[in-house]
Amino acid sequence: MDSETKTPEGQPRAEQDRVVIFDTTLRDGEQCPGATMTFDEKLEVAELLDEMGVDVIEAGFPIASQGDFESVQEIARRSQNSVICGLARAQPKDIDTCAEAIKPAKRGRIHTFIGTSPLHRKYQMGIDEAEVLERVTASVTRARGHTDDVEWSAMDATRTEEDFLCRCVEAAIKAGATTVNIPDTVGYATHDEFGALIRMLLERVPGADQIVFSTHCHNDLGLAVANSLSGVMAGARQVECAVNGLGERAGNAALEEIVMAIRTRADAMNVWTGIDTTMLTRASKLVSRVTAFPVQYNKAIVGRNAFAHESGIHQDGILKHAGTFEIMTPESVGLKESSLVMGKHSGRHAFREKLKELGYELGGNAFEDAFVRFKALADAKKHVYDEDIEALVDQEIASAHD
Ligand code: KIV
Ligand code: ZN
Repeated sequence: MDSETKTPEGQPRAEQDRVVIFDTTLRDGEQCPGATMTFDEKLEVAELLDEMGVDVIEAGFPIASQGDFESVQEIARRSQNSVICGLARAQPKDIDTCAEAIKPAKRGRIHTFIGTSPLHRKYQMGIDEAEVLERVTASVTRARGHTDDVEWSAMDATRTEEDFLCRCVEAAIKAGATTVNIPDTVGYATHDEFGALIRMLLERVPGADQIVFSTHCHNDLGLAVANSLSGVMAGARQVECAVNGLGERAGNAALEEIVMAIRTRADAMNVWTGIDTTMLTRASKLVSRVTAFPVQYNKAIVGRNAFAHESGIHQDGILKHAGTFEIMTPESVGLKESSLVMGKHSGRHAFREKLKELGYELGGNAFEDAFVRFKALADAKKHVYDEDIEALVDQEIASAHD
């Protein structure tokens, strides 16, 4: 974690530059069709997130079901380091139930939300602006009666009129919200729009400098990570994200991408997180296992190809200096090493290394013959396994002895 908690000059990074990582795998992630987790699976995921240094775990939506209530309560009981958060609509019963569920936590948070956009006001709730404002004040005030850590979210914020959004955020801050979350609920914003929205709120809303602004970006256009980081560059200091990018529809910003982008480009962003990045691969595998959602092969950071190289030029470069084609080390995300995949694009350098790894050392002509046969095999076969190469070299050695 050293490189991200220190500046390039070796100075400790300032607390105001720390980005709070709010994980919603167990709430928004679980809302994604087919990703339901059992009670025990949720505890296992929460334990790992807690150990990994996630600042806030959104453990569930306690009013949604007895099962959700119980898992939030048990996670609250067990968590050692993370703040445990529950979600609640802007309704007294939701908020009180949430407060009850998070009560055993060392540090608990109530996250209450309401739709603010014209579409949500008219079609989802059938209420006007004045009524929304009243509910914002009432819900945050009620939540503050239970805990001093209250987050308020403006659902569909990116499609809300700016003036009205400012009034809602101001009302939430006046009522005691300590974190204000600006969701791009339907993944509609572009990264420059999203950054500008956070900047505008910080400039215009009285009291904005007293609270933490948070991003919650959905991935409908594949922009969730870029939009979240744009929010951070504009001054947001909490990012809501989920392991493997799980979440409603196309998902939320992927936690591992946010964390590694902040770490790898600390020079450009000047912020840091408290995440132990060497646990990212484990977290990804665990979430993939318990949800039965495979991780796409070429997924950034945790996909099986993220540190794999096949082309001859790339393999040659990696063998000479890993920095030629890798901007992060595999160790930094919890892998032992990069992998050189043997295929038709591989060159002599990688083939010789592979032979060495398999315990062979072939001289001049034998090596050349083996390489030609390997290329022919790789052309004919989609996957060349170690066993294929072993068989090929054994034949080469046998024919040399004939
Ligand atoms: O996407 C969204 O707006 C949400 C809120 C409940 C924060 O998930
Ligand atoms: Zn969401």
